[in-house]
Amino acid sequence: MKKIKLHDKEFRLLLEASVIDSAIQELAQKLNRDLEGEKPLFLSVLNGSFMFTSDLIKQITIPGTEICFIKIASYAGTCSTGKVRELIGFNKNIEGRTIVILEDMIDSGNSMAYLLDLLAARHPKKIVVATMFYKPKALVCKIPVDYYALSLENDFVVGRGLDYDDLGRNLPDLYILDDQPANHA
Ligand code: IMP
Ligand code: MG
Repeated sequence: MKKIKLHDKEFRLLLEASVIDSAIQELAQKLNRDLEGEKPLFLSVLNGSFMFTSDLIKQITIPGTEICFIKIASYAGTCSTGKVRELIGFNKNIEGRTIVILEDMIDSGNSMAYLLDLLAARHPKKIVVATMFYKPKALVCKIPVDYYALSLENDFVVGRGLDYDDLGRNLPDLYILDDQPANHA
């Protein structure tokens, strides 16, 4: 079993890159079908969704597609702080636009709830939520999750843009926190 160490913690392979690639391809095809004729504005939530955005957007064929970025953070270590901070202001006029929020992961839903409020106040035509990974059992906020590539159990993962204290974002596969490393069992 493939294992890696980031800072003080060990992680083991959960999903190969090819599995994630296929799920994102399927998601892109669904969006292409469902948003035909919409001139969508894709809003990528940094830092975590940079890789997902890149993988997905190359497969979006809807005429009039635009991409922009917002940066928020809600995590310190492996546990959600429950606090969401907007780090880079967002001043694009989205009135009457179809917005597709691209997230790396929906966990508690705190970040998405915050973002949905912020965007709704700017009167878009509609807001669609699309996330690469979704942990349904971790959800504490009532938010719509319109599209997800893959659903996961309530475990901490890294790779594919997701980090453990800034490490692991570059990994193409997804790794899960190994609570009982073999050498400590
Ligand atoms: P939420 O606000 O609890 O839904 O968390 C949203 C953000 O926390 C995501 O966009 C991720 O950047 C980060 N996050 C959630 N779960 C994980 C994880 O398992 N590993 C790394 N980052 C995570
Ligand atoms: Mg993070």
